Amino acid sequence: MKLTDETGIIKENILVAADTYRMVIKGDLSRRFGPGQFVNLLIDGLTLRRPISISRYEPEEGLYVLYYKVLGEGTARMAAMKPGESIQVLGPLGTGFPIDPAHPEPVLVIGGGAGAGPLIQTARELRKWGYPVSVVLGFPTKDDVYAVEEFRALGIEPGISTDDGSFGYHGNVLELIESRKETARLVYACGPKRMLRAVEERFERGYISLDVRMACGMGACMACVCRDRKEPGAYHRVCKEGPVFPIGRVVME
Ligand SMILES: Cc1cc2nc3c(=O)[nH]c(=O)nc-3n(C[C@H](O)[C@H](O)[C@H](O)COP(=O)(O)OP(=O)(O)OC[C@H]3O[C@@H](n4cnc5c(N)ncnc54)[C@H](O)[C@@H]3O)c2cc1C
Ligand code: FES
Repeated sequence: MKLTDETGIIKENILVAADTYRMVIKGDLSRRFGPGQFVNLLIDGLTLRRPISISRYEPEEGLYVLYYKVLGEGTARMAAMKPGESIQVLGPLGTGFPIDPAHPEPVLVIGGGAGAGPLIQTARELRKWGYPVSVVLGFPTKDDVYAVEEFRALGIEPGISTDDGSFGYHGNVLELIESRKETARLVYACGPKRMLRAVEERFERGYISLDVRMACGMGACMACVCRDRKEPGAYHRVCKEGPVFPIGRVVME
């Protein structure tokens, strides 16, 4: 799909959990995203763009929603931006979550930390196509929990785990899944690598969204490659063939 570098207008940029913000942007790209795709944001004063997933898009209102965690200079500068300011957005980028409208089946959506937001639109699309959807989300503590209302708005009550037990199930999200005796065999997951590795050990079918360091974000520089699990010498660009890959396709270093 043709890439656009558009000037989006920030409509909202608020703190929703510890170091976690929701930014709502007005722009034409809202009509061109698919679930699991991302944008590359040009932030004033920084040369390298920062990749952030599209958590939700509302084409009729011309809006798209990002949830992001402040980690370093780029995301800290984003957090200081105010409604009415503009931001340069390159997208739509990457290959997102595939959804087969012809074969709906029970699906388990698994999010960890900053990986919870990017699954909102995915859960929404899966429901739209008739998939029975369960959602489980894991966070370090209750202060980190976000996006719950977004899933509730879709008619889904997400299961929540926290590592310290301060909210929901006490343990990690994989332990929560075992405690719920989930029967879905198909999973869609986004979160830290150690969570994705555990998902790959536990489930045979589904998709994971990888978060790696990127540079160009559009397939040109090879900064983001990861090795194919089965084919020696074969590589995949996370920004182009990913960030979403079928379970078992790539090596997570
Ligand atoms: C396809 C994709 C989608 C993403 N979607 C989201 C999202 O929806 N919400 C969100 O909060 N974050 C997301 N990220 C991660 C986000 O891009 C980084 O957190 C951000 O670029 C950090 O920029 P910074 O300038 O604030 O931090 P930097 O100053 O660049 O780095 C600060 C610290 O974070 C580490 N870091 C930076 N980038 C990454 C990364 N990609 N993976 C692991 N560690 C990193 C650095 O090593 C350093 O320790 C996504 C990343 C990718 C590749
Ligand atoms: S970041 Fe340049 S090829 Fe992926």
